[in-house]
Amino acid sequence: MVEIRHSNILELFELRERALAGGGEKRIDIQHQRGKLTARERIHLLLDEGSFEEIDILKVGRGESAGSDSHPGDGVITGHGTINGREVFVFSQDFTVIGGSLGEGHSQKICKIMDLAQQVGSPVIGLNDSGGARIQEGVDSLAAYGEIFHRNVHASGVIPQISCIMGPCAGGAVYSPSITDFVFMVDQTSHMFVTGPNVVKTVIHKDITAEELGGATAHASRSGVAQFVYPNDILCLRAVRQLINYLPSNNKQKAPILDLNDPPERTDPTLDYLVPPNPNQSYDMNVLIYSILDGAEFLEVQPQFAANRPGGQPAGGAGRSS
Ligand code: HXC
Repeated sequence: MVEIRHSNILELFELRERALAGGGEKRIDIQHQRGKLTARERIHLLLDEGSFEEIDILKVGRGESAGSDSHPGDGVITGHGTINGREVFVFSQDFTVIGGSLGEGHSQKICKIMDLAQQVGSPVIGLNDSGGARIQEGVDSLAAYGEIFHRNVHASGVIPQISCIMGPCAGGAVYSPSITDFVFMVDQTSHMFVTGPNVVKTVIHKDITAEELGGATAHASRSGVAQFVYPNDILCLRAVRQLINYLPSNNKQKAPILDLNDPPERTDPTLDYLVPPNPNQSYDMNVLIYSILDGAEFLEVQPQFAANRPGGQPAGGAGRSS
């Protein structure tokens, strides 16, 4: 009896090791060579040190019965932790496991943390790096996306939903993020498209680069789907931490107050001369924004979008004013 229990524990350890190894060393090396971090490294950078509590690490999907290998964790890491002490729920797709594609088990893990985030009233952050619906699971993986879209709609206006696009994301892996509140992209290494360039070539015989089809520039400046673009994973995740500082955790709370040691009675004489007497003359709105916000701290939303506005001035952003 004792022996059986012992072997069960060893098996659990072994499964855990396999889950932690993701798609294996070779695929992790490729991920790094492409300038991308792994799904676990991203969570580590996003959350306060040591705060991550993982859920469903051993969950498997349909795997072999659906024509692919079965992986503990099913290609997505889910759980909760804190950002500057505030609770958030996170999922991080692992491109090294079947291209981060979404099968039934993978979806159930994401749905569970979306449900928990709503119950607790905390933001949900998705780190997306996925080829979309897992082809081997056929229509089940499409239905599994339906479950996520359904939750995106219900969570809308209730808790903040934040998406980071951190790799070549296709199909459902972009339909869901694009209906969330804020979309971050990483320049050059992330893409958002209905399907990838190879499929486009096969189906409509058109040569198109991933960058043209759905790169960060296309979405930040033309489609308007992406609100923020950063040059690498590290800066992108740091910016998500900054954004969280400006947001209430849910629709019943107020945004957190942070003392930036900027006295409300501070005056700025340069503002006396900012607006020119001639109403036809333009002036730099950034000077005004940085001058009036506490600590000159400002996170500009969609800086590349609608550059047709006079001078390309930003339409909105987040900062604090005492
Ligand atoms: C299963 C997938 C996959 C997918 C990638 N892989 N996408 N496996 N289902 N959707 C696997 C690949 O076979 C490969 O496995 C590994 O992940 C890495 O993929 P590569 O192609 O080698 O990587 P890369 O060259 O970087 O290209 C990434 C990609 C491309 C651009 C995402 O893989 C691609 O175009 N995939 C198909 C995307 C697609 O059409 N998705 C739409 C699904 S439909 P091996 O073992 O060979 O390394 C959908 C609709 C939802 O999502 C609708 C909801 C209602």
